[in-house]
Amino acid sequence: MKHKMLTAAVLAGFCLACGARELQKNAMVWYDTNGHVINAHGGGVLEYGGKYYLYGEHKVYGQAGCRAHVGVHIYSSGNLKDWQDEGIALKVSDDPNSDIADGCVMERPKIIHCAKTGKFVMYFHLERTSHLDYSDGRVGIAVSDTPAGPYRFVRSQKPTPGTYPVNAPEDEKTPEALERSRADVAKVPHYGESEEMKAALIYPAFVEGGQDSRDMTLFVDDDGTAYLIHSSEFNSTLHFSELTDDYLDFTGRWWRGRSKDWTEGAAVCKKGDWYYLVGSWCTGWDPNQARYYRARSITGPWERMGDPCRGVNPHNGLGPELTWGAQSNFILKVSDDEYIAMFDIWRPWNQVDSRLVWLPVRFGDGEMEIEWRD
Ligand code: DGJ
Repeated sequence: MKHKMLTAAVLAGFCLACGARELQKNAMVWYDTNGHVINAHGGGVLEYGGKYYLYGEHKVYGQAGCRAHVGVHIYSSGNLKDWQDEGIALKVSDDPNSDIADGCVMERPKIIHCAKTGKFVMYFHLERTSHLDYSDGRVGIAVSDTPAGPYRFVRSQKPTPGTYPVNAPEDEKTPEALERSRADVAKVPHYGESEEMKAALIYPAFVEGGQDSRDMTLFVDDDGTAYLIHSSEFNSTLHFSELTDDYLDFTGRWWRGRSKDWTEGAAVCKKGDWYYLVGSWCTGWDPNQARYYRARSITGPWERMGDPCRGVNPHNGLGPELTWGAQSNFILKVSDDEYIAMFDIWRPWNQVDSRLVWLPVRFGDGEMEIEWRD
C-alpha cells in the first residue's frame, strides 16, 4: 500500500515537473501548480489584465469547515487550468470582536473590478460569530488595490436600509402595510416553504434597518452598473440591489425578483439580449434540482424556465434531479461565445473535500443548457 502511494506521489511529481499536468476533472480533487489541493469554494473567477483569478472560501477539515477559520483563498492562471497559489486574499480576524472573527460564516465571496476607482471590491455573505444560526443575514464588503489582494475589510451591513423596492405597489408602502408586515414576521415560520410564508408580507418590516442577505452574487451590467443579487426575506425572494459607482455602497435603488420562489446559489450572466440566472432551491448543504430564469432587463420581469442541467455525474450517479449532487454558484463569461457555469459539490461533514464542477453553457435564443462532462 505504502509502495503504491509513493509511486503515485512520484508520478504526480513527475507530471508536475515535466509540465504535463492533466486537465482538472469535474468532481475530482483539483491541484494548484505546487501540487497542493485547490481550496476555494463558493467563489468565482475574475478576469483582469489577461489573467484569471479564482477565489473562494478556504475550508478546513471536518464540520469546522462550515465556518470560516482562514478566509478567502485566491489563485491566478493564464489559461483557466494551471492555477498558481496567491494566498489568502481576505483573512478572518483574531479579534473576537471583529465582524469577521475566526469562526464566523463567510460564504460565497464575489469580486468585481471598479473601472471608476481602479479598486477590486469583494462582497460576501456574513454571519457574525454571535449569529451562527444564520439569523444575521449580512453582507461583508472588502477592498483591494490589486486583484489578488490583500483585501481590507471595510464593514458589514444589511443592504438598502431606508428604502422601498422600486417595484413595490403603493399599498405596500403604507403604515398599515408596515404594521401587517411586522405582525407577519413575528408569527410566520421564517425558513422553508410554507403557506404562511407565501401569504406573508416580509420586506416592509425590514425597510428601516435593511433587508437580509444570505446567498449572494455580484453582477456588472454592460453600462458598468453593479448589482448585489441576494437571497432575502428569509431566503424566499431574490433582491437586486444597485451599488454606487465605486461599488462600495448601495444606492438605495432595488427591486424584488420573483416573490417567494426560494432561490439560493444565484449565478447571473448576460448573453446577447438575455439575462440569465441559474439557482437552486433552499435545502441547506443538500443538493436539489436547479432551475433558471431569464429576463430582457436586469430589472426583470424574470421568467422561470426549466432545469438547464443535462446528463449524469458518473462519480455519484446523480443527474439533473439533484444537479449532479452540486449547487449553482457562478457563471464566467470567457468570450462572447464561451461561458462556464460553476457549481459546488458540498461535503458538510468535511468541507475541505468539497468539489468543483465547471461546465460549458450552451445557449439557444433565450434558452440555456448545461451538460455534464468529466
Ligand atoms: C445553502 C447555501 O447555498 C450555502 O452557501 C450555505 O449557506 C448552506 N446553505 C448552509 O446550510
